Amino acid sequence: MTTLDKIPYIGPITKNEERVMVATGFRKWGMTGTHLAAMLMRDRIMQKENPYADIFSPQRFEADPMVKKFISAKTDVAGQLVKGKLDMRDQSLDALKNDEGAVVRINGKRAGAYKDQDGNLYLVDTTCTHMGCEVKWNSGDRTWDCPCHGSRFACTGEVVEGPAKEPLKKIDQQD
Ligand code: FES
Repeated sequence: MTTLDKIPYIGPITKNEERVMVATGFRKWGMTGTHLAAMLMRDRIMQKENPYADIFSPQRFEADPMVKKFISAKTDVAGQLVKGKLDMRDQSLDALKNDEGAVVRINGKRAGAYKDQDGNLYLVDTTCTHMGCEVKWNSGDRTWDCPCHGSRFACTGEVVEGPAKEPLKKIDQQD
């Protein structure tokens, strides 16, 4: 889903396979990325120069930097996993305003809280059901987003976007 430098791979898969093309790594921006891929591939087939071809070329990396970046990308996921678990800067539930979401502590336990515009409270377990990273509140879309692999959950915990398949666990304030 994501390339090493976060820019999609669009173009011939290798130098020796000029006629086999790939378009991938859109980071959930497929609606835009696939149109771009179609234009780049059309120009290549029509032997027309395209100023963006090199930027998206899957051959833009040499072997060594690729491995280095791959390791640092994996380390970043591991870092997010640990950082999320250790982060203790949680907000108090009482301080939560309407239409606001935050990570709070309830009976000493961490919980994701969102108060809707009418003051109804939704509580979820902030542990992502994909591989256990800690989700963060996205106030723009009013979703819980996972920094590790991009899963997104509604304020009620339902999966909005994978790779997670299971919803976030709901939390009862009495728990
Ligand atoms: S741990 Fe993979 S998306 Fe959350």
